[in-house]
Amino acid sequence: MRTQTAEFPDPSSSAGEPTIITIDGPAASGKSTIGHAVADALNYLFFDTGVMYRAVTRAALDRGVNVHDADALARLAETIDIDIAPPTPDQDDGRQSTILVAGEDVTWSIRAPEVDQNVSIVAANPRVRQALSAKQRTIGQRYGSGQAEKPGIVMVGRDIGTVVLPEAGLKIYMDASAEERARRRLLDLEARGKAVDYQQVLADIIARDRMDSERDHSPLRPAGDAVIIDTSHMTPAEVVAAVVDLVRQAGS
Ligand code: CDP
Repeated sequence: MRTQTAEFPDPSSSAGEPTIITIDGPAASGKSTIGHAVADALNYLFFDTGVMYRAVTRAALDRGVNVHDADALARLAETIDIDIAPPTPDQDDGRQSTILVAGEDVTWSIRAPEVDQNVSIVAANPRVRQALSAKQRTIGQRYGSGQAEKPGIVMVGRDIGTVVLPEAGLKIYMDASAEERARRRLLDLEARGKAVDYQQVLADIIARDRMDSERDHSPLRPAGDAVIIDTSHMTPAEVVAAVVDLVRQAGS
């Protein structure tokens, strides 16, 4: 399960538990819910890398940058100011973190349908990926070294175990049937007061998965040493317990 090479030493805590945990998987497979809860249980930092691709997409749509214009999009990703902050007590609206682009709160606007429909085009751009994954790697290494404010990091996305942090001590690939993932996303959207159609949500998820899996650069796929968890018939509490168990086992 663990990767150890001279180039990428496997960071682990003094108890031998992995300090870098990666969770990759398709859209709405539960990565953020589970990643956040696992990070809470371990007192690790939770970092959802999808918000960075979403933030670039939001900015492109707002600033009139054509998502098919590879150079303009790359320049945007290379210069954009994205910040992620813990929610303040008055931001009690269900957010896991506050996402800021040039100081503007985009926490909810990055979840809009037009972002869902364009984000995989943005994420297929190799220069966008290079710019964002370099930042993700820096953060991952800082927390993984145990020298940051938290003793470790849970980072979620599509290519974290394969490309961004291949030295991670525990890699999870989280999956569920497309129908179950669409059902969960529908419940999320309804909870936020959005009227949406199940068939449309399912079609968007399938289209995004296809683009994410078939792109040339860092496609979505499990790392060779990832533990695959199919969450279709599991409750969130069961999945969290399974991941925390894997962390403890890796340390024993
Ligand atoms: O929450 P959900 O699973 O719907 O998506 P997300 O994790 O917020 O990611 C949004 C999109 O960003 C994905 O569909 C990918 O196109 C892209 N992404 C990526 O390419 N690599 C990552 N490490 C994270 C996200």
